[in-house]
Amino acid sequence: MKDTMRKRVLVATGGGDCPGLNAVIRAIVLRANKERDWEVVGSINAFDGILNEPNEIVILGEKEVAGVHIRGGTIIGTTNKGGPFAWPIKNKDGSWGSADRSDEMIRRLQYLGVDAVINIGGDGSQQISQKLFEKGCNIIGVPKTIDNDLSATDFTFGFQTAVQEATTAVDKLVTTAASHNRVFVLEVMGRYAGWIGLHSAVAGGADVCLIPEIPYDLDKVMEKIYSRFHRGRGYAIIVIAEGAKPKGGDVHYQKKKGDDGQRLGGVASKLIADLKKAGLETDIRETVLGHLQRGGTPIAYDRILATQFGVEAFEMVLKKDFGKMVAYRHPNIVSVPFKEAISKYNFVNPDSDLIKAARGIGICMGD
Ligand code: F6P
Repeated sequence: MKDTMRKRVLVATGGGDCPGLNAVIRAIVLRANKERDWEVVGSINAFDGILNEPNEIVILGEKEVAGVHIRGGTIIGTTNKGGPFAWPIKNKDGSWGSADRSDEMIRRLQYLGVDAVINIGGDGSQQISQKLFEKGCNIIGVPKTIDNDLSATDFTFGFQTAVQEATTAVDKLVTTAASHNRVFVLEVMGRYAGWIGLHSAVAGGADVCLIPEIPYDLDKVMEKIYSRFHRGRGYAIIVIAEGAKPKGGDVHYQKKKGDDGQRLGGVASKLIADLKKAGLETDIRETVLGHLQRGGTPIAYDRILATQFGVEAFEMVLKKDFGKMVAYRHPNIVSVPFKEAISKYNFVNPDSDLIKAARGIGICMGD
């Protein structure tokens, strides 16, 4: 039951989980609690909590968020399926379709006494935010993704934790690769952007780094591998981003479009198969890091950025600065209209200083 004396802000986390989500939720709650006339509620599993029957809305107070900033995942759950504009419904013939339940959701928000919404999510979630804003919803966005592929913000929280995990993986692969005179191919996430791949390759000291922004030439990769072996001894580490593609080739999906969307992956085993076909004779193994990059405790950097985002999101609620997403523009936390925030992806610039540094220390970028 709503405390009629207090205003209500509803928080939802949508899309894939990401280290730092709980730190954002905690920051919103702690900041809101400084205002006597506000309370925070959470919608379970993104906006499903509002639309489910009965609804699943939970009160978020200091007790609920105590210590959660060090925990991975999200205490209010998430989903990357459906949403108010494409709610999954089963057709009479058993197939799946979708329904637009956005108007109903707006009515339900009013019924629940929600004065403002903070939607923490990636590009898909912020597209939903924009559409809800156009329907009159008082909504603010907080960007999240380990992929760091949102152009409106210098960094997203979760990214540095993912880079740390990938770097730790490179460090570990080096010792086993060196012991066995092997080549290791480490496949990392990042969707169509090579941020995690590039950062972990530089931090870990990989020999080859293949990212979507620089299509690779198999011969160059082969050349680099052989340059790391002498009389059959040596090792090489290749970091490959899941969205990487060969020159003239296309990205590799482990799952084609369907109920579960299009899922990237399988590039490490494809690269190994192609290298073997092209005559590679060294021993070679693959490691697919997968969701280890997303789970677990956020590193300090991500907790701090997430906390700043959470506090700023609530300040924006107080200022009624709706229709915008919080962003980081070094050294400031700023806000960007949704339209701008979702209009462009953030890709690695092949001419950037970090690529220059990678090449400078001899990392083969595949070209
Ligand atoms: O966007 C985050 C991300 O982890 C991507 O790097 C990856 O391609 C995708 O999500 C994996 O999605 P899922 O958790 O649905 O397998």
